[in-house]
Parts: sequence; structure tokens; C-alpha cells
Amino acid sequence: MDRQKTIAGFSKLTKIGKIKWLVENFFKDPEIVMQELKSYWLTDVHQQELLDGISENTISNYPLPLGIVPNFVLNGKTYAVPMVIEESSVVAAASSAAKYWMSRGGIKAEVIDTIKVGHVHFYWGGDPNRMNSIFLLLKPILIAEANPIMRGMIDRGGGLKSLAVKSFVDQDPGLYQLFAEFDTCDSMGANFINTVLEQFSKTLQDFFRTSDSISAEERELEVIMAILSNYTPDCLVKVWVECPVQDLTDIKDMSATTFAERFYHAIRIAHADLYRATTHNKGIFNGIDAVALATGNDFRSIEACGHAYAAKDGRYKSLSSCSLENDFFKFVLQVPLAVGTVGGLTKVHPIAKRSLELMENPNSQELMMIIAGMGLIQNFAAVRSLVTTGIQQGHMKMHLNNILHQLNATSDERTAAIAHFQNKTVSMNGIKVFLDEFHQEKIKI
Ligand code: MEV
Repeated sequence: MDRQKTIAGFSKLTKIGKIKWLVENFFKDPEIVMQELKSYWLTDVHQQELLDGISENTISNYPLPLGIVPNFVLNGKTYAVPMVIEESSVVAAASSAAKYWMSRGGIKAEVIDTIKVGHVHFYWGGDPNRMNSIFLLLKPILIAEANPIMRGMIDRGGGLKSLAVKSFVDQDPGLYQLFAEFDTCDSMGANFINTVLEQFSKTLQDFFRTSDSISAEERELEVIMAILSNYTPDCLVKVWVECPVQDLTDIKDMSATTFAERFYHAIRIAHADLYRATTHNKGIFNGIDAVALATGNDFRSIEACGHAYAAKDGRYKSLSSCSLENDFFKFVLQVPLAVGTVGGLTKVHPIAKRSLELMENPNSQELMMIIAGMGLIQNFAAVRSLVTTGIQQGHMKMHLNNILHQLNATSDERTAAIAHFQNKTVSMNGIKVFLDEFHQEKIKI
């Protein structure tokens, strides 16, 4: 049969129609794949429709595990924190680190600020020296015309916090930007900000077209785009753990002092070397993204912002830092986090809603602290492993289950393998050899 890999009107097909076309044209065993994809549909039709409505061209669901980190103490309050992540050992590592810090005062946190930003980027060919005085006339009109859109947010205590014009004419002749700062209360605020910015664009263009204060030669202005920025350096949270060095006990085969020093140097390396910094920060985002995803937040914007922030001084480096002054260990993470607890998916996705409920419905600032706290202890757990046992011991132990599944191990084989590898290094080959031997032993019996 000829396979047809392109199609017109895919989005118009029914869900079954879409799957049928896909399985017939892209898979060797269409019937089996069709059943498999359908097996992930939710039985509750309403819930399935809700999920389908989140995206487009949906054919099935892609389940990921929802894990829990208990004993997560932040500013004296104990949480059970939900995480959605595909990587084994992340939740186990975070759970172990949360428990470790629970008995050492827990995680401390403070929100530094919650400012979000957005821009209207435009070109104007007039005299750059005129822009500031024109903006003085324009600004109240921009605000007045956007006010009806901002009303609800203003009533909740948020809205536009500042509005300025920035010139980029030195880099690109004629280029300017309306630079707006917002407080979006408990919402991430992307839709709110973009709607306001698009209104600013209209007002800006109308003003240059019609205002008496603009001369005939100055009228030409072109808005290129209006969009929020995911770089929100002033939507910032700081979290930290601390204790006397001597309290850093229960570290495998290592004294508290040795551990503290090795840990401290590991963080310094992540400040010095770009390669290490990237992996180090990735470990932080293992924690951050997983809670962001569990609570229906946009982990791509969080990551984009975090990595840009890590390079804010002109060189990409670690987001966390460590000090060892007067025999006192302090490990700090300062990271921008634009998150919401209302709007977006937070109350639409059934599990996101429950995740927030599990944490007693935090407001956005509390959620910023929880998410950053998870980034911090995830980072602590990873670096603790790296400077002590190495990462593979814990990681492969957790990954053992995945490999056993991949090798189609029976439940007997799985039980035996887990017992066998309790105190041994796990590797794919090691598991294969073990399963062969286990199989032969059984046959002998
Ligand atoms: C793996 O997902 C994350 C780590 O590589 C982070 C790190 O090296 O710090 C373990």
C-alpha cells in the first residue's frame, strides 16, 4: 500500500479519523497502535473533552507520573509538593533533601518583587530629540484608553505600574519601544499583558496619525509587534537553607567539614565554568519545571527567563551560590519566576487544580517560593551526590525499574533483580547478564 505522508485538512478530521490516517500511513501495525492510542483516552468524556480543548489536533493523551515530595518545610509551613517529571530519581532526590533540611530549620524564602514586563516595538523616522516630549503627551492617552481593559486587574490591586519610551536608535535607526511594567496579582498575566499592549499599539498609531501635536513629516510610524517579555528579572524570589557546618551530618562516608568544603567548591565551579553551570542550572530546573508543570504553569517561559537571568552579568553562571563564613553554611538560590495560581491552565487542568489544592491553594507569591525552594533542594541533592557517591548510584537504582520494563522482565525477575542490585552498580549490561543467569538458574531447578 502506498503511504501518504502529507494531508490537507487534518484538523477537520474527527479524532478517530486522525488516528486512522496516522496509523495507516506511519505505522507497521495500525490496528495495535490504534487500540493503544485509544487506551489512553479518559473514560470520563467530559474530562477528555477538556484535555482535548487545551491543545489542537489531539489524538490521545501523554501520561506522565505525578510524584510527591513530602516533608517540604518552607518558612515554617509543611507542604507535600507535587512534581510532574519523566526523569527517574528527581523526586527521590528532592524528597531526601527536603527531609534533610526539615530537621535543619527548613527552607527560608522571600519574594523580592513581582513585576512583569511587556513592550510595543515600533519604528519612527522623526527627530529622536522629539520623542520624549511627544511621549509626555501620549502617555496619559495610552493609559486612559487601556484603563477599561485593565479595570478588573486594577480592582484586584494590580495593573500597569510604569510606562516609558525607550530609544534604540543607536543600535537601529528609528527603533523605539514602549516599555511597560505590570503587576498581574495571582495570575501569570500573559493574556492580560498582551491585550493591554495591543491596545497601546492602537493608541500609539492613532495618536501619530491624528494628533495636532504631530507634524505632517512626523506622522509615519510602524508598530512591528506588541508582546510581553519572558525576561522578568524583577519578578524575583530568593530561597535559602543554612546551618552551622557541624550540623551537616549524615553525609555518606564524609565529615561535615569535608562535605561543606567540597559542596562549596562544586558551586564555585558552576560559577567559573559555562559547561558545568549549564548542567548545574539544569538540575535546578529539574525541580522548578516539575512543580511548574504539576501546577499548570508555563515551564518554558520560566526556563527561558532563568537562563537569561543566569547570564545577566554578561557571562552565564550558576543561579545558586554558597557561602561558608564563620563555619556557617548558607546555600542560596535567587531566580526570577513568573507564575500564576489563577488563570491559564491552573484551574482548568484537573490535576493542576488538585496540585494547588494539595498545597492549600497558595497565592502566586507563595507558589514562587515553593517552586524556587524545590529548585534549591533539587540542586542541593544533585550536588550532594556529585561530591560524595557520584550521581549514578542513586540514578541507576531508580532507573533499574525502567530498564526491567524495557527488557520485559516478569514480576519474579523484577523482584529478584531489585534485591540483587541493592548493593551493586546498575548497568544495562549487568541487568541483562543477571536476567540470563536468573533464567538459567530457574530452568536448572
Ligand atoms: C540530571 O538531570 C541533573 C544533574 O546533572 C544536575 C547536576 O549535575 O547538578 C544531576
